[in-house]
Amino acid sequence: MNILDIINKTKRSEPLSTKEIKWLVKSYTDGEIPDYQMSSWLMAVRINGLTDDETVALTLAMRDSGDILDLSCIDGITADKHSTGGVGDKTTLVIGPAAAACGVHVPKMSGRGLGHTGGTIDKLESIPGFSTDLPFSRFAEIVNETGFAVISQSGNLCPADKKMYALRSATGTVDSLPLICASVMSKKLATNAACLLLDVKYGSGAFMKTSEDAKKLADLMERVGIAAGKKVKAEISDMNSPLGKAIGNALEVKEAIEILQGKITEGYLYELCIRLTADILMLAGKGSDEECLAMARDSISSGKALNVLRRTIELQGGDPAVCDDTSLLPQPQSHYTIRASSDIKINSIDCEELGMVSLILGAGRISKEDSVDPTAGIIMECKVGDKIASGAPIMRLYSTVCSDFADAAVRAQDALNYTACRIATY
Ligand code: URA
Repeated sequence: MNILDIINKTKRSEPLSTKEIKWLVKSYTDGEIPDYQMSSWLMAVRINGLTDDETVALTLAMRDSGDILDLSCIDGITADKHSTGGVGDKTTLVIGPAAAACGVHVPKMSGRGLGHTGGTIDKLESIPGFSTDLPFSRFAEIVNETGFAVISQSGNLCPADKKMYALRSATGTVDSLPLICASVMSKKLATNAACLLLDVKYGSGAFMKTSEDAKKLADLMERVGIAAGKKVKAEISDMNSPLGKAIGNALEVKEAIEILQGKITEGYLYELCIRLTADILMLAGKGSDEECLAMARDSISSGKALNVLRRTIELQGGDPAVCDDTSLLPQPQSHYTIRASSDIKINSIDCEELGMVSLILGAGRISKEDSVDPTAGIIMECKVGDKIASGAPIMRLYSTVCSDFADAAVRAQDALNYTACRIATY
């Protein structure tokens, strides 16, 4: 086998065999194929795509490039959830405890945020004392006790993806359905839960800009996951507005806790959390769609899901009292409110840009080594379609590391597309 034949085949849309794909992934991971030749193959994939069989073979070869977690020490049925990245997405903090309260074990291995999307690890680490740096054996013990625990991705999971993703970012080949599918699914298959729920997002804050593309990616991921022997369901969800009101680490933890406290019982974020929890319960064989939706709602309204989160926080070294008093979360030193200068109607929101504003405020990182400000972020006082009266707040910006809000405020306002409207006053 040689790399030139492989590049030429994909260039001519001739399918590669599983053997060829395994060889390609192994040889690249081992440093035997140089970046310039791998880039050429990736661009051929970006242009011509791959067949389903090739995508399955690529995913499995990437999964097998490193360790595969052994979850046999975790009792009962295990489930994992993955979101393809969004702005203000704190659903894991609700869904994990809610599914655990219904008897499904959720061992969550998560990443830190990079760029405009936040990571679950950063959110949880905003809770005073909370540690995600646990030995695997301790992580498994916590999952067995509470049903839910979170650790940071470590060890040698999917080294092929690490190398290929870095190369794709530098060569304009990220936006390819089979490559995104193989990248995400190889990591999820290496984490090895029995059930896998995928939340594929579309819109201004997501990789996929249209619901049609998100559906294609969702279907492909489902097919690949099922071919790999997992129970998989992929939902598609809207990321044209930030998810909920809060963007930023401690702010998002507060909003997630408010859902679990029963203070937020409607709206897109709440309904999405219920839908995704019910999906996990169905994958785990807990009942029909209707039964699982009812169980998901009950896990929250009964306070059982909040009890799971409280105990998980305690066992991971954090202050469980935040579950009863969110003012114990770190508080920002400065804030700035953006107000409507006339009566306006919000037509659309550039979520990716708001993710970048929250990064400027200190909530995110540009490179992996950057530290984050747990207090920084945005509270949205509007969503698409809202009419805002002159002088009313549109967004509130928070930070501790940044005290000059001028740049962030201009960018935040520019992220909104709005037109003048008449608001009746009586
Ligand atoms: N997230 C990933 O992990 N991989 C991709 O290719 C895109 C998003």
